[in-house]
Amino acid sequence: MKTMVVWASPNEDGLTATVKNKILEGIWAEGGAAEEIHLNKRRINACLACGNGWGLCRSEGRCIMEDDFAAIYESFVQANGIALVTPVYWHDLAENMKCLLDRMRRCEAARNHFLKGKRCMLVACAGGTGNGAVKCLRNMEETVGHMGMIPLDRLPVIQFNREYMLPAMVGAGRAFQAAVPHPL
Ligand SMILES: Cc1cc2nc3c(=O)[nH]c(=O)nc-3n(C[C@H](O)[C@H](O)[C@H](O)COP(=O)(O)O)c2cc1C
Repeated sequence: MKTMVVWASPNEDGLTATVKNKILEGIWAEGGAAEEIHLNKRRINACLACGNGWGLCRSEGRCIMEDDFAAIYESFVQANGIALVTPVYWHDLAENMKCLLDRMRRCEAARNHFLKGKRCMLVACAGGTGNGAVKCLRNMEETVGHMGMIPLDRLPVIQFNREYMLPAMVGAGRAFQAAVPHPL
């Protein structure tokens, strides 16, 4: 089983990408196998709120839209743990990360419960003032909480702390990998 590292940013060498690389380094250092998903290279539409507000998400635990959502959802289900790494936009998650989690929450909370108990780590990367990094983490925490996922870590990386937080992200990746289940 793999540990997923899901990240969003149009910048392949920006702050979020750097943080993601450090976490991967930590997972590998701990002997884990990681799978990276770069959401900006995938197509994730926003929820249509179809039907009367609930669509197939409630009746069948899946989404009516045919994009990359279903494949990523399946990767989450198969993973032994999931690191979610988002830039902070408007004191919140990146829009594509939010679209993914919004749709997953509907399928999970209303019907499937496949991710209940799944361990995750939450990382918010703020390149501006740092305002909103904590709120972004809080919003992510609430969303994964609706799915019954268990956040083991919540980490803000901001301009002020990046010098000491970036090396610490390797340790965060290691600690996360050590804490997720290791089935044979
Ligand atoms: C639309 C938009 C909104 C942003 N909002 C915030 C914000 O609320 N707080 C903050 O500290 N930085 C904010 N930023 C800066 C991003 O957090 C910063 O660009 C982030 O580190 C992503 O950079 P990266 O693409 O290099 O990873 C914003 C950037 C954009 C593009």
